[in-house]
Parts: sequence; structure tokens; C-alpha cells
Amino acid sequence: MILLRAIFCQFFALALVFITAYWLPIFHNPIVFLLAQCGMAIAGSFLLHQPKWWIPIHLVFLPSVFIFFTLALPAWLYLIITLVLILIFWGTVRGDVPLFLSSNEVTHAVAGLLQQEQAKHFADLGAGVGSVAVPVAKLFKNINVEAWELAPIPWLISAWRGRNVSNYTALRQNFFNSDFEKYDVVFAFLSPAVMPAVSEKIKREMRSGTLFISSSFPAPDWKPESIKEMDDLRRTVLFCYRID
Ligand SMILES: C[S@@+](CC[C@H](N)C(=O)[O-])C[C@H]1O[C@@H](n2cnc3c(N)ncnc32)[C@H](O)[C@@H]1O
Repeated sequence: MILLRAIFCQFFALALVFITAYWLPIFHNPIVFLLAQCGMAIAGSFLLHQPKWWIPIHLVFLPSVFIFFTLALPAWLYLIITLVLILIFWGTVRGDVPLFLSSNEVTHAVAGLLQQEQAKHFADLGAGVGSVAVPVAKLFKNINVEAWELAPIPWLISAWRGRNVSNYTALRQNFFNSDFEKYDVVFAFLSPAVMPAVSEKIKREMRSGTLFISSSFPAPDWKPESIKEMDDLRRTVLFCYRID
């Protein structure tokens, strides 16, 4: 549905700009045309309440098509670029979780919480390239760190970064197929779309007294034990939930 809405925004913006170009000759300038199309696609995305990560996609989509056609690049290059993008943004096209990386401030805060909790088993649900999981595993050799990641390229980078870290495991698996029972602390930076299912699984499987940290997106209908505001670019908020 999210993908269909994004395609609609692209085509609707394209149609509007074509119609406007009929009356306004300035739109015959390719740069004006592209800027207007991107702007309208982004406006449409806002109006349809699309997740924010579609904005950069709308911004680069038509300009990239334009560049590729004007440079007359070989067809295999399109294929390779598309494949690489699919291998990086695995789940985004389905509309669930894009790849965004946590800041160093988030990693430090998670490390502090792990120390405070005296955790022995830690999981990052959707670990991306291991921005949180790898430094934490290097810092605390006594903590077993499991980094769950579905997207092939981020998983590969995470596995490579942690290749010499004995207490680090990069799993290319869907974390919904795992059992959270063994973890003392679980960290997730996902998206509002999956938070209901994730928090339900956390409540069902994590042991009483353990801690769930959700970056940026609160778990619905669950009061956090504490909320930590980061001093990073995104002003990230960490929602910390104690399991009953
Ligand atoms: C926003 S990124 C967060 C990356 C990393 N945790 C960080 O904080 O820098 C979310 C990642 O979760 C991954 N992901 C989403 N759903 C998943 C699932 N069910 N199982 C494993 N990985 C998943 C996505 O591929 C994406 O790389």
C-alpha cells in the first residue's frame, strides 16, 4: 500500500508538471521541470501521510532516471544499481523498515544501559551495519551480542565489522522467528509500522525484569520506565520499557 501510494505520488506529480508545462514555458527547462516534479511528489507524500524516508526517494527518483537517459548508460548498470539498492533496502519496498543508522550518542546510551543492567545477553533487532551492536560487543567482552538483520548488504557489513569479535554474532534472519527469552536487554530502531507486533512479541517472550529499548518509536499502549533524549542530529529519543 505504501509503495502504491509512492508510485501514485510520482505519477501524479509528473502529470501535474506536464500539464503546467503546457501553459508555462519556463517548465520546458529540464531543471525547473525536475525540481517541480520532485517538489510535487514530496508534497503528495506529505498529504498522503507517507513515512518520512520516502522524501529522499522522491527527491532522487526522476532526476536519476533523467541522468541515466541523458548519459545513455548501458542497461546492465541499471540492473546492478537496482540490485544493490534492493540488497540494501530489503524491507523498505514492502513498507516496513528502512535502513537508518543510530548515532554515536545512541550507542553510548545503550552501552550505559547495558552496564547499568549488568546484562549478559543483548540483541539488536534489525542491526543494520552494526552501528550499535558492534561497538557494544567490543566494549563488553562479557556480553553476548546478537545482531539480527534481514537485508543482505547491511548484514554482510555487520558480520565483517564483527568478524574478530568473539562475543558477536551477526544473524541474517528475521527476528520475528527468534525467541527473546534469553535476552537481558533488547534494542530496536525500526518503524512505527512494526512496533505493535514487536512490542507484543517482547511482552510475550522477554523475562520479567529485563529491559526493552526502542529508539525513536514508542511501543503502543505501554508506559516507558524512562525516556532518554539524545543530543544528536536527529534528537533521538530512547524509550526504555521494563518487562513486568
Ligand atoms: C532503522 S535500521 C536500524 C539499524 C541499527 N539497529 C541502528 O540502530 O543503526 C532498521 C534495520 O532493521 C532491519 N529489519 C527490519 N525488519 C527486520 C526483521 N524482521 N528482521 C531482521 N531485520 C529487520 C532493516 O533491514 C534495517 O536494516
